[in-house]
Amino acid sequence: MNIDNVFAGRKALITGGLGFVGSNLAIRLVELGAKVMLIDSLIPDYGGNLFNIESIRDQIEINIADVRDIHSMRYLVQNRDYLFNLAGQVSHTDSMTDPFTDLEINVRAQLAIVESCRYYNPEIRIIHAATRQQYGRPLYLPVDENHLVQPTDVNGIHKTAGEMYQMVYTRVYGLHSTSLRLTNIYGPRQLLKHNRQGFIAWFIRQALEGGEIKLYDGGEQVRDMVYIEDVIEAMLLTAASDKAIGEIFNVGGLRPISIKEIADTLIDLTGRVSCHDEPFPEHLKVIDIGDFYTDSGKISNALGWKPKVDLREGLEKTLQYYEKHKEHYL
Ligand SMILES: NC(=O)c1ccc[n+]([C@@H]2O[C@H](COP(=O)([O-])OP(=O)(O)OC[C@H]3O[C@@H](n4cnc5c(N)ncnc54)[C@H](O)[C@@H]3O)[C@@H](O)[C@H]2O)c1
Repeated sequence: MNIDNVFAGRKALITGGLGFVGSNLAIRLVELGAKVMLIDSLIPDYGGNLFNIESIRDQIEINIADVRDIHSMRYLVQNRDYLFNLAGQVSHTDSMTDPFTDLEINVRAQLAIVESCRYYNPEIRIIHAATRQQYGRPLYLPVDENHLVQPTDVNGIHKTAGEMYQMVYTRVYGLHSTSLRLTNIYGPRQLLKHNRQGFIAWFIRQALEGGEIKLYDGGEQVRDMVYIEDVIEAMLLTAASDKAIGEIFNVGGLRPISIKEIADTLIDLTGRVSCHDEPFPEHLKVIDIGDFYTDSGKISNALGWKPKVDLREGLEKTLQYYEKHKEHYL
């Protein structure tokens, strides 16, 4: 499907729009001619960063608001064609130390969002960001959408609940949602300030600063990293297709990649960073999911989406971006 003309003049609302995925999506939607409004609470320590949308700042509306505020949400969902629902507490470790904040944002606020849509804009096309973390430790690989949902952490439980609201409200009240279960994403505009939002961003920071990458148990664990541009393409293709309504799709990477290969590629690309092996810290090991890679066959068959960017190319582009704009991220 060609999405070039789908979004021109259409009104898109992005929750979490100043974060990593949201800002890259906003930039692409502006390129496609959409009228974009962002909602973001800019909670310190989360991924929101005004610099992320520097290049389109004059072309979009920004609402510094919290999705937990149902009164704001009731108003803000009105008269919009698309809702890209990306706001979230995304740190797995934070969900274990502060489970109630994760509950408020990833569950209670999610209920407020579907309720707002139900009463104030039931026609809005919703793309919801879910996560591969919902599957927990894989029973088989690659993991398809029929795999049991058995999260290993609080964030996975809450993201599952958030997704289920979307599905139930679509079935029962006729909302128009699709949920995308996203694997590990990397690329420009991701938070690098601390190491609680996924290992890849922290590896990139070490590569930028000439630091040291810690590999747990030799870094043999496998993931299927997906480059941000591929994720944005999946979101837009999904939003453009009515046959995706009510569906849950996995969005995975091009191939299984060991964590060690990611570290080695960064070493190769920068020559600046080193790595060393450590035992897995206990508090991380208990919520780790072991090896994971996604079967993205369902979205591929339904919408023709496939990831295109391989690791080396994606990391090169990512490093180039941060080299240029370091002071806004470190
Ligand atoms: N990045 C990944 O690898 C990944 C993988 C799977 C799923 N996801 C999902 O994708 C979505 C976006 O993730 P991201 O990587 O861009 O994270 P991010 O932290 O960069 O962006 C999330 C944004 O949401 C905002 N936000 C958080 N709580 C809010 C609230 N209560 N009200 C308003 N705004 C709030 C934050 O300020 C931030 O800007 C999340 O729902 C996440 O669970 C991301």
